[in-house]
Amino acid sequence: MSADTVFKPGLEGVVVAPTALSHVDGQAGELVIRGYAVETLATRASYEEASYLLWHDHLPNAQQLEQHHAALASMRALPEPTLQLLRSAVRQRVAPMDALRMAAGTLNLRAPHEAHTSDAQRDALAVVARFPTLVAAYWRMLYDEPVIAPRHELGHAANYLYMLDGDEPSAARERALETYLVALIDHAFNASTFTARTIISTGSDLISAVCGAVGALKGHLHGGAPGPALQLVLDIRSPKNAEPYIRAALAQGKRLMGFGHRDYKVRDPRTYVLSVAARQVYEMEGNLAMYDLAQHVEQVAVRLLEEHKPGRNLHANVEFYAGLLLHGVGLPAELFTPTFAVARTAGWVAHCQEQQRANRLMQPGSAYVGEFGRVWVELDERSL
Ligand code: ACO
Repeated sequence: MSADTVFKPGLEGVVVAPTALSHVDGQAGELVIRGYAVETLATRASYEEASYLLWHDHLPNAQQLEQHHAALASMRALPEPTLQLLRSAVRQRVAPMDALRMAAGTLNLRAPHEAHTSDAQRDALAVVARFPTLVAAYWRMLYDEPVIAPRHELGHAANYLYMLDGDEPSAARERALETYLVALIDHAFNASTFTARTIISTGSDLISAVCGAVGALKGHLHGGAPGPALQLVLDIRSPKNAEPYIRAALAQGKRLMGFGHRDYKVRDPRTYVLSVAARQVYEMEGNLAMYDLAQHVEQVAVRLLEEHKPGRNLHANVEFYAGLLLHGVGLPAELFTPTFAVARTAGWVAHCQEQQRANRLMQPGSAYVGEFGRVWVELDERSL
């Protein structure tokens, strides 16, 4: 490595492209999506409104919203080859995120009687419209339950919940999930979005980019954290156990899932949005014990992380309350990361479209630290 090589492990702080989609200020704890603070958007917008905003740079009027809803709803049904693939995956007991990654690759196939639109527009709609159907259908197949067909008149969030358990959700349950989906719809150049942009930058297609993004999201340092984050709270069980449990985990060199963030050095603003929504859900159930325990765990964890890694400013990230909220909405932990994927689809699509409009092949440099000038040795002359 030459002395003047700029080496940024993990590309930390490296800016590779401008974006008009979302802005993260990690010092101030701000997330802005197309000009709106996440606190405003996540508590007011439906997923259809937020996805329209991302794709068109303005909120839809009533007619545009109706058209956008109709376009998405008309694409929800899965093509038969996708269903066949899910049935094969069930026989192998493939984990939901792996089944989602496999099936995502078939999303550009046409469902019976599907309207013909231009390919780019159609693929974008298919990705967003069909991810919830994929997750719900696979989940029901895994438990030997009949797959529930989507209902056109239901909104994106309500229809997802309906396809999972067959019950039309209450307005409060729908709003709670909608808040989650909108809060997670986009977050600048996070790892999965960057993966999608890298793939599309090669001239590849949207479906390939989304498959790669699902793979990146799955990792526990990114979208795989909410299940383990909820498990942390469940394992602690009672406020009195929080400090000894967390001390022991940190002493063993474990990372606390749901804490720390590459960008945020203060509390993640989505943590606030999701904690308020989670409180409402648990209040509705008439039992705040789990919510109160989670709050206590957060306070203890932040204090002990500061002791353990002074000056690193490790706070609760979005995943800590995401797990709690989704649990309150009634989703099993195995569906937390697939539901994160459902939320992020519109962001991935918007980033791919933005990348295509001003494309530059993503290809970072590397710092070679291997040897030079090795002399070739014939096979029969080589020792170990
Ligand atoms: N628990 C314990 N220690 C931690 C944690 C944590 N949750 N997070 C960071 N640290 C420590 C690291 O070990 C590191 O210490 P070191 O420099 O002495 O080795 C220091 O704090 C700084 O952390 P980095 O690894 O440099 O932070 P980075 O920006 O690379 O990672 C990440 C951020 C991956 C989110 C990290 O905080 C983490 O692993 N958190 C737990 C997993 C998690 O919650 N992931 C979800 C993230 S949100 C999202 O992707 C939607």
